[in-house]
Amino acid sequence: MFSKRTDWSRAPSRLSELVALASGPLLDLTESNPTLAGFTAPSVVAELGDARGATYRPEPRGMLSAREAICGYYRERGASVSPEQVVLTASTSEAYGWMFKLFCEPGDCVLVPAPAYPLLPLLADLEEVRLVRYPHVREECWRIDLGATERLLAENRARAVTLVHPGNPTGSFTRRDEACALATMARRYDAALLVDEVFSDYAHGVLAPDRQPTFAGGTEALTIVMSGLSKVALSPQLKLGWVVVAGADEATRREALERLEVIADCYLSVATPVQLALPKILAAAPALQAQVRERLRKNLAVLDATLLLAGLDSPVRRLAMDGGWYALVQLPRTRDDDQWLERTLAAGVLVHPGYFFEVATAGMMVVSLLTDEATFAEGIARAVAVWSEA
Ligand SMILES: Cc1ncc(COP(=O)(O)O)c(C=O)c1O
Repeated sequence: MFSKRTDWSRAPSRLSELVALASGPLLDLTESNPTLAGFTAPSVVAELGDARGATYRPEPRGMLSAREAICGYYRERGASVSPEQVVLTASTSEAYGWMFKLFCEPGDCVLVPAPAYPLLPLLADLEEVRLVRYPHVREECWRIDLGATERLLAENRARAVTLVHPGNPTGSFTRRDEACALATMARRYDAALLVDEVFSDYAHGVLAPDRQPTFAGGTEALTIVMSGLSKVALSPQLKLGWVVVAGADEATRREALERLEVIADCYLSVATPVQLALPKILAAAPALQAQVRERLRKNLAVLDATLLLAGLDSPVRRLAMDGGWYALVQLPRTRDDDQWLERTLAAGVLVHPGYFFEVATAGMMVVSLLTDEATFAEGIARAVAVWSEA
């Protein structure tokens, strides 16, 4: 009765089994939901009450005023984007689905980064798209292995190369030289660049000059930038995301946009009240983001101070990153990831194992710097004590 592509295993993961076995309440260092992380800013939901929201006038690409507000957002980030280049979606996840529809036949390949957030395989299954991982070199702060990427692009005739910028959980912003090389490669093989910028507003301090701030200004390849209110305005519940179609030549962009408009017209998925409120929500975003950046800065300082206390010769260390909401901590490989997890849970602390994000190296743990400060300080103190045991 049911399609093969929805025949996923629904057995509990090893992680949820271990969590279910844990006794007592856990200090949760995996919190990623910004609406539950204790920020006290005035609610952007108050902006949804505009009476014009009672009237339905469907516009497949989204209301012009909303698309103009998105152009303003990019102007502040140094990229010139016109409203004609913008299409609204309900979320970045939906945008990925639309991109797979736009570029792929069933069975076609899209290159995706590894490690990465574990959402893409399911979205790809739904469109019968085959994902092939291209490697990042951990020892070189997640530099993209460009030679391997080009081989994979050619061998698989990939329709698109996906960049998560900055990576989740690596926190690595794409370098300018990598961006150029990937764009040249994508153009040569007639593939699009799909750039997920949901975390791009969360650089730790000033972004190094060799890193690309945003791809919304385009590249020589057809470049699709995806983002949305989930991270930009800490509001995943508002269900508004967007794509910017940039790069390549005008005819290619127009073709992409006209096809995308038909896809968007089939769903008309973005609610009118949130579109009307978007200019005000984006105006409120900098104050919200400032709170998040302060939280990230404080928790990172606590993590580093706790690791320092464990001793300079401790085998537990944090990996360097440029931004994002997560930190990766390398533990000794004296135990496998599940054994480390069990011990961490026994100390009353929940973290994510690196394998959850397809980190190839064993002994990597991921902690969310979005966690409220008291929970983070207590949790990380307990976790580092366990991780430092021989
Ligand atoms: C890298 C990345 N992209 C996309 C998403 C999904 O975002 P949205 O809520 O806009 O679907 C997430 C969610 O955490 C994410 O981490």
